[in-house]
Amino acid sequence: MSKEQLIAVAKNNLAHAEAGTIQQTEDFLKVPATNYYCPERWQKEIDQIFKRVPLLLATTAELPNPGDYKALEAAGTPVLISRTSSGDVQAFYNMCSHRGAQIMPVGHGNTHRFTCPYHAWTYNLEGDLTAIYANKDFGDLDKSCHSLTALPCLERAGLIWVTLNQSSTLPIETFLSGYDDLLAEFGFETWHHFKSQAVQGPNWKIAYDGYMDLYHLPILHKDTFGPDYPNRANYYNWGPHQRVAGPDPRLAQYKDLAPEDWPDQALTSGVWTIFPHISIASFDGGGRSIMLSQLFPGDTPGTSVTIQHYLMEYEPDEAQTEAALTQFEFLKYVVQEEDYATGLRQQKALESGGKPFVLFGKNEGGGHHFHHWVDLLLKTEDADLPALFDEHKTTFFSAKKQD
Ligand code: FES
Ligand SMILES: [Fe+2]
Repeated sequence: MSKEQLIAVAKNNLAHAEAGTIQQTEDFLKVPATNYYCPERWQKEIDQIFKRVPLLLATTAELPNPGDYKALEAAGTPVLISRTSSGDVQAFYNMCSHRGAQIMPVGHGNTHRFTCPYHAWTYNLEGDLTAIYANKDFGDLDKSCHSLTALPCLERAGLIWVTLNQSSTLPIETFLSGYDDLLAEFGFETWHHFKSQAVQGPNWKIAYDGYMDLYHLPILHKDTFGPDYPNRANYYNWGPHQRVAGPDPRLAQYKDLAPEDWPDQALTSGVWTIFPHISIASFDGGGRSIMLSQLFPGDTPGTSVTIQHYLMEYEPDEAQTEAALTQFEFLKYVVQEEDYATGLRQQKALESGGKPFVLFGKNEGGGHHFHHWVDLLLKTEDADLPALFDEHKTTFFSAKKQD
């Protein structure tokens, strides 16, 4: 079913290429400039988006084996993700049940147990408290009542989502809106995690707008990769998540093939965004690779941090490693020196108050859809979240119809 949808997307992109058209929104979109710097709004976005909807916090490739773990801070919350002995993935607050110390330092590793650095309380991979140091002195305590605090977590399509709200009533599956079935086409479960690196940027929405925007490619990136890329895009939505792929005449070579004969690359090309903070850009050449960009709000409304993860379909040999390192450095340069350098100056200009709003054109449907979802979440009560995602499930294909 998902392959049929991907082929339908490709055929739609081909039809647009042959007709010389793109999907357009009905109207322009005005987004208030204050949305990018107002501290109250920013806090609301953290509380009602980052702390309510599932976030893609890890890839299967980062923790493939039992005992593998990843500790990170997401939107100010310390999180510990563990591959348990049975091979499942679980997520917890990275926080000790004794006096709340962070148990594991930020990073990856493999272990049999998690031992707190403060007084050595020890937990197993499933988060159960297994040992209390100097137990007799400490006093009798029912260990079974003092496990790590679990967070909702789901591993799908080689990607791992965690909700930063232990009592969330929004099933991660509902949030994914069927998009995970399409992402499964990449086969990330068996991919190799090559490297990760961090880039500092402007307000998280200024940064994220850029990932859905092909319009700027030949202009802002004229000295790097821009001239080789088309700057026209179609947007396909599954709930808030969007696939960005341009009209591409090269797809004509596949159009009469049976579904099973379509090459993966033709079906997964372009940019895949996962609301509210992920962009996956795919590349080809001697096996596929992707850069998965993971955005988090920074410490102030005008800052963000992006972790770039480079994943490869196969473990690279020496020559491929060299090539991948060069490409990954290049990608960091482009994002840091072109996208985010521009974004940081844009941030300053917006904060000057010189314009009351920014504009998104009829060709920038990705921005329309994204800001629409940000606004929807800011006005939706916790109890209504599952219904919100159910209602807006698949708008796949339709040109933007915003309510
Ligand atoms: S805070 Fe973890 S053992 Fe004391
Ligand atoms: Fe860019």
